[in-house]
Amino acid sequence: MKFQAPIYPVESWSITETEFSEKLNYRNETTFALSNGYLGTRGTFVEGYDFDVDTGLEGNFINGFYESEHVRYGEWNYGFPTMSQSLLNLPDCKRVEIYMDGERFDLRRGRILSYGRTLHMNQGIVTREVEWESDSGKQVRFCSCQLVCLSRKNLMALKLSVTPLNFSGNIKFVSKLDADVENHTRKTNPLVDYGPFGRCINPDVIGSKDHRFFYQGTTRNSGLTMACAAAHRCNGEAVYDVGELGACITYTIPVEVNSNAELTKYIAYSSSLDMPIEKLEGFLMSVLDTAEADGFAVLLNEQKVAMDDFWQAADIQIDGDEALQQGLRFNLFHIMQSAGRDGKTGMGAKGLSGEGYEGHYFWDTEMYVLPVFIWTNPELAKQLLLYRYHTLPQARERAKVLGHPIGALYPWRTINGEEASTYFPLGTAQYHINGDIAYAVWQYYEATGDYAFLRDYGAEMLVETARVFADVGGFAECRGGKYCICAVTGPDEYNAIVDNNLYTNLLAQENLYAALRSLEILGADADRLNITVEEKAFWKKVADNMYLPYDEKLGVYLQDDGFMMRKPYDENSIPEDKRHLLYENYHPLFVYRQRMSKQADAIYGLQLLSDRFTNEELLRNYEFYQTVTLHHSSLSTSIFGMLACRVGKVEDACRYFSESARMDLDDYHENFYAGIHAANMAGTWQSIVFGFAGLRRVNGVPEFAPILPEGWKGYAFSIRYQGSLLKVYVSSNGAVFTLENEKPITFCIRDHKVTLKEKGDTCHETV
Ligand code: BGC
Repeated sequence: MKFQAPIYPVESWSITETEFSEKLNYRNETTFALSNGYLGTRGTFVEGYDFDVDTGLEGNFINGFYESEHVRYGEWNYGFPTMSQSLLNLPDCKRVEIYMDGERFDLRRGRILSYGRTLHMNQGIVTREVEWESDSGKQVRFCSCQLVCLSRKNLMALKLSVTPLNFSGNIKFVSKLDADVENHTRKTNPLVDYGPFGRCINPDVIGSKDHRFFYQGTTRNSGLTMACAAAHRCNGEAVYDVGELGACITYTIPVEVNSNAELTKYIAYSSSLDMPIEKLEGFLMSVLDTAEADGFAVLLNEQKVAMDDFWQAADIQIDGDEALQQGLRFNLFHIMQSAGRDGKTGMGAKGLSGEGYEGHYFWDTEMYVLPVFIWTNPELAKQLLLYRYHTLPQARERAKVLGHPIGALYPWRTINGEEASTYFPLGTAQYHINGDIAYAVWQYYEATGDYAFLRDYGAEMLVETARVFADVGGFAECRGGKYCICAVTGPDEYNAIVDNNLYTNLLAQENLYAALRSLEILGADADRLNITVEEKAFWKKVADNMYLPYDEKLGVYLQDDGFMMRKPYDENSIPEDKRHLLYENYHPLFVYRQRMSKQADAIYGLQLLSDRFTNEELLRNYEFYQTVTLHHSSLSTSIFGMLACRVGKVEDACRYFSESARMDLDDYHENFYAGIHAANMAGTWQSIVFGFAGLRRVNGVPEFAPILPEGWKGYAFSIRYQGSLLKVYVSSNGAVFTLENEKPITFCIRDHKVTLKEKGDTCHETV
């Protein structure tokens, strides 16, 4: 496990970069990335530096907006996806070059007198304050404030101010639109061979007038059209310049020493995914009109309100460890801002913070991120689930391609709902995605009691995913007539195309039971789904007879049927510098034949369903999988940490937790430049709530088993459960549960039931 000194100063509500560093620029661009789930922009410098592909990436993204390339295979098989999907890096509207009497404000030259850039996690903004001296000795103070509006889907804004400190002269702002942009595929997705390479958007319209510029363009292959525009507020005269792939507006402002020149820029994006092409320009102009009329201060205020609202339920306070506190808030901030929230978009494994993983959505959303929102911000959770609902038609088509006459098979990785994974052993074979989505739907229903969602969307998803699980396997005589699922890949990507992956079988079983249960709850409200009595009986038979591979001698559940047959992994036979990069140095078959796991797999299933196993069983499994898991995926440690709490290995849990809490902030994986690790970020919230506080659902009822890690004075968090807001505070004096609103709540603390009826009611437990 890796630990290192904090990169940024330890502060509980902010992240501050204290020096300008070209070397660390690429990574810092991700740290300071801002988003609202629809628009995302990397933390690049507005004054614009042309970093090369190894040192920086200007990145602006619209969630769901992608380019497709034809995928060429050396050998093609039926059902391989033929068109790729890559989140497209879009034209940049942020750039404002600054000149002082003709000399450019450029931190790579001259002398930096003071420097600070801060992400304010309680305000949802990034500010920068720099004092700098040019080569000729001109000193200026530069201040900027940027935000991507959480309450206005299409809008971001920035405000700049430049103050001459030892001269009077002309400050020139050159605000630019740059449409000559491309993805950095070779750097950000080096394994991808098909691109996109080069500029993918052809310009349709570009123009500039009335302090605004506008651009509209259409992709080469996916046929999607995007548009962006910016409005400027500046007390100087505007000079316009427009080219085929760029536009700029220049303002020159005479300024006295110690007074400032200011520019406010409102930037809006939209695309044909949301409206007919001919409406784009008018729509963006109206977004800008409203923004200008309201002004920057109103946007700042709205942002604060949105952040307060988020933190009210989602914040976790750790008393006694500020570094962990900072890591945790950083993680929560990034996942909150990355989640699609219009019901039409999901959430990328990297959010909208970079091009990594081509912007694809994976199981990371349902199994890592969604629980956080389900228990703190159910509306956001619902929007992400609706995205999956709306892509059911593509999943139904995919099930047919895979030979399932009915049902839906969700894609392993996707943007538009179609399968985009081109290496099926680590892609389409991960059938557990169906079980993951179903698990999230059911968890959402149980935690919110949202009957309308279950009736209108949820049950259909449960039924369609269950149908595939009822078709994919068979009752095998050699396994005592039990239902076996062969040729799938579990979460662990170092073991591919296996038989009876424990995690998959467990989640398939849960999926089938949840489908049956939802039909029972809905009664006649589910008639439109036309499920026959025979079909339901068959699902029950499959679920009741699900095979769970078990090694009698070891007393552990096996990750899959063949796990113990594989060669014991000898890490010493692998040179140290190659150990973390197995796929880059070894053929996949070499990897698949070793008895080890890249990430939490079997134990994830056991953790999710821990109430079905005894603590002794869980402990034996935990200890076994500790010895064979390499944690080469960022999705691993948080799961081990949670199970460690359940089996009383609190010291282990603390170690796992520290690693996941600061993994991205301190760049443990050395690839933060390509984007956040959203799953792990969300995993840290889970580590506290499902781990240390032991929250799980037992027969649909929340149950806590709180413990206090050594060295912590206490921790506090809130959950929303069926309309109730419950605050939990755990300290050495015990655990205090307080009802924070008027909706009564019943839950269990270990094995006894508690009901809090009125706002302010509390219950106290020893830990
Ligand atoms: C992990 C997957 C994960 C993906 C995206 C892979 O390295 O093995 O479980 O879904 O990354 O985060």
